[in-house]
Amino acid sequence: MSRVALVTGGSRGIGAAISKALKAAGYTVAATYAGNDEAAKAFTDETGIHTYKWSVADYDACVEGIAKVEADLGPVDILVNNAGITRDAPFHKMTREQWAEVMDTNLSGLFNMTHPLWNGMRERSFGRIISISSINGQKGQFGQANYSAAKAGDIGFTKALAQEGARKNITANVICPGYIATEMVMAVPEKVRDAIIGTIPVGRLGEPEDIARCVVFLASDEAGFITGSTLTANGGQYLV
Ligand code: CAA
Repeated sequence: MSRVALVTGGSRGIGAAISKALKAAGYTVAATYAGNDEAAKAFTDETGIHTYKWSVADYDACVEGIAKVEADLGPVDILVNNAGITRDAPFHKMTREQWAEVMDTNLSGLFNMTHPLWNGMRERSFGRIISISSINGQKGQFGQANYSAAKAGDIGFTKALAQEGARKNITANVICPGYIATEMVMAVPEKVRDAIIGTIPVGRLGEPEDIARCVVFLASDEAGFITGSTLTANGGQYLV
């Protein structure tokens, strides 16, 4: 029986590419989404991948949603924490609400999704937690005090979990994408975006599939010795 992978924010952008790549690699895939029913339906029609609607910012909704996925498909072996939002503003204009929304989804979302799955992975002695952070969690970004803080938190979360999961064959790794051609990056004002592209040595935005390939690698049984690592995929824009 194939392993079950759950991808948050898995029906659009980088998440959609991850869901498709995991399916192509032989996994049974479930994708969550928070709001866009139309996109989720189109995604399921195109790929046959099950979609489930809940917000990763809501712990109780995660517990309930995960129980439904596991009743439908079996225990989740691979969790991809991909769901993320931006609420960009220079810090002097940033509201408490913009701060909280980003922290709730991009950082607490990792707790909310991983915690209900953790004991099952421990009992079965297998798990893969793969979280999508960002170049901006590594280097900081003007206009993203909230996002940079949350994404840096994702890296610390992963390093702690890696130590706790190691004896139970659960790996935890984090991927830091650079600027990828998705709706999120296209929402950045064109002038700002062009300036950013000018700082990417490969001279272009990344593709969602560049990140999906990293996930498939880290999800595999063969990647069992890799844990607590930060995999950077940013076209050379920031070297760590
Ligand atoms: N560095 C230094 N100064 C900057 C700057 C930068 N990167 N960006 C803007 N400024 C300056 C402006 O020139 C302006 O200066 P003056 O007042 O002297 O003219 C000042 O900051 C304020 O600028 P604005 O009035 O334009 O501010 P704003 O309220 O419109 O907000 C912003 C600007 C929202 C921060 C906008 O610059 C922006 O969207 N920046 C991009 C942020 C970004 O990279 N987001 C990434 C989104 S994609 C993503 O997050 C995915 C991922 O993981 C990579």
